[in-house]
Amino acid sequence: MKVSPLKIGNSEVRNNIFLAPMAGYTDGALRSLFLKLGAGLCFTELVSAKGLVYGGKGSEELLRCEGNDVSRTAAQIFGGDPYFMRKAAESESLKDFSVIDINMGCPVPKVYKNGEGSALLADINKAKKIIKECAASGKTITVKIRTGLKYGDDIAAEFAKMAEDAGASLVTVHGRVREAYYSGEPDYAAVERAVAAVKIPVIANGGIFTVSDADKMLDRTGAAGIMLARGALRNPFLFSELLNTEPSMSFSEFAINQLKLSVAEKGEIRAVKEFRKFAPYYFRGAKNSGAARLAVSSAATFLEIERIIRENL
Ligand SMILES: Cc1cc2nc3c(=O)[nH]c(=O)nc-3n(C[C@H](O)[C@H](O)[C@H](O)COP(=O)(O)O)c2cc1C
Repeated sequence: MKVSPLKIGNSEVRNNIFLAPMAGYTDGALRSLFLKLGAGLCFTELVSAKGLVYGGKGSEELLRCEGNDVSRTAAQIFGGDPYFMRKAAESESLKDFSVIDINMGCPVPKVYKNGEGSALLADINKAKKIIKECAASGKTITVKIRTGLKYGDDIAAEFAKMAEDAGASLVTVHGRVREAYYSGEPDYAAVERAVAAVKIPVIANGGIFTVSDADKMLDRTGAAGIMLARGALRNPFLFSELLNTEPSMSFSEFAINQLKLSVAEKGEIRAVKEFRKFAPYYFRGAKNSGAARLAVSSAATFLEIERIIRENL
């Protein structure tokens, strides 16, 4: 794929390969390691706008960045109320983030039923108000959408145009509808139409697990860049493969460093427990995949997991 720096509003990122927001996964520790492997921009997981405005517990932790990673991190917020979304964009918690991403794709019923996330795809006027209000905060605003709610929908082009007119500086299109959740081929044609509809950069996302998936996505859509999600968890070195660089660490160093950072931030008990959900991704290709995953699920200390990683990755 063609790797190049990308302008997002007034900011410039070093390359056009982004790490997706993934709730429960992309915390400060993981983002930090993906930035070391070369990601152009990382996203926090979705953070509630109301939570930010009311100072809800937990938001700070989701937004936490290692060192000066914040300069390469976009904070993703979600909500259905333009007033709260603007307040959130202006909140003290987001003061160090220059890029704020608005979630308009989350399919989860709890979010959807509140008129948030992907529900906004069915209310373009509300979505426009939200983007306008957030843009009025003076931050660089990006928006992440899907291609629609139901199979057969194709709203990405109209939505991307609306987002551009409302003040967004970049749109990411996850090439699937809400109904599909995370499965199936991405709708390349719908992403391509979104690219053609706007002047701002469009980032294509969905189903990129290999270098050839990335090439296919860019060839078919003409997007300005790509966003990796589960593909990055399965193979963190997809970044170095796409960037054509030598990875700065081995897979076991990657996983051990992640766990170390996580222990430092959350304490050993929580970090060890949270590491379990990474095991299916990390040990997927390992020789003793099943046994390694099982061992991680019953491990109780950093040292135990470190040993399992060293033996299997
Ligand atoms: C576990 C998980 C959590 C996710 N959390 C978020 C989120 O917080 N915000 C968001 O915009 N998308 C979220 N997504 C969607 C991803 O960012 C991405 O759009 C989706 O996984 C499609 O890309 P892929 O096919 O390459 O995995 C999540 C996906 C997964 C699998």
